[in-house]
Amino acid sequence: MKIAAVAVVVLLGALCPCLMAQVSTPINILWQAAANWTGDLPCGGWDCDCVFRNSKGCCCVAVPLFQLEETTFMRMVDLWKDLNSLSNKIQEITARRNVAFAASLTQITGCFGPFNKNVSISYCNVTLNQGYGYNQALGTFTAPRAGLYSFSYTVYSNVGAEGERIYYKVQLMKDGQVIASSWEDNREDSEDSATQTVLLQLKQGNQVYMELVLGRFLCADTQGYNSFSGYLVYPMSDI
Ligand SMILES: *[C@@H]1O[C@H](CO)[C@@H](O)[C@H](O)[C@H]1NC(C)=O
Ligand SMILES: *[C@@H]1O[C@H](CO)[C@@H](O)[C@H](O)[C@H]1NC(C)=O
Ligand SMILES: *[C@@H]1O[C@H](CO)[C@@H](O)[C@H](O)[C@H]1NC(C)=O
Repeated sequence: MKIAAVAVVVLLGALCPCLMAQVSTPINILWQAAANWTGDLPCGGWDCDCVFRNSKGCCCVAVPLFQLEETTFMRMVDLWKDLNSLSNKIQEITARRNVAFAASLTQITGCFGPFNKNVSISYCNVTLNQGYGYNQALGTFTAPRAGLYSFSYTVYSNVGAEGERIYYKVQLMKDGQVIASSWEDNREDSEDSATQTVLLQLKQGNQVYMELVLGRFLCADTQGYNSFSGYLVYPMSDI
């Protein structure tokens, strides 16, 4: 054991001066200053009679080194925490960011309606449904996340001939509440349309859909002119 320890000391002694000579780092300067120190060592309590016998520098640098290591470690822990929360925030902002849908009525040759109550309109020809917010069976869009959303719809009806009554009214609904509506009641022309766009602040789970108001009807949309679309403008945190 003793031989081994001596061997280590000799080896270190041989290596250290070379290292000292090659690189001049703050630690090396500290080490040298400590090695040059001729008075009593200020770092009491530390066991200097180890393998680094005769090397005062090791003893004096040990405490600041340990402190440096400790602070560095604590800083790294803090940085790691910050990085983690930053990455969570980025994920929160970017995840489920792409929300958009577009759908239109599939061909109707006759009329949709009239009904004796307000009925939701199922736009079944879905051409876009990113984020899967739109349910074509119900014609309902459910906000997958909170945010500012834009919705547009076009209502169109063709009653076939002048003198026939165009009589429609559709309304954009948010959870049972009327947000916007478009209507027509005339015998002057045979076809008519209207378009609306609204911006809505939604919470996650809010539902937006279109209704055909009772007694009204939409006729002969053979081109899919009746449409409903929407998209997330930007996410907001749920309140
Ligand atoms: C330590 O002593 C050596 C030799 O006397 C000298 O060259 C060197 O500059 C000293 N280092 C410090 C940091 O005082
Ligand atoms: C669905 O909409 C697309 C785009 O408007 C259209 O090309 C297609 O013919 C429509 N399909 C049906 C079944 O209405
Ligand atoms: C149907 O919609 C009309 C027009 O907005 C409204 O006055 C009426 O109260 C609605 N009926 C029901 C049962 O919600």
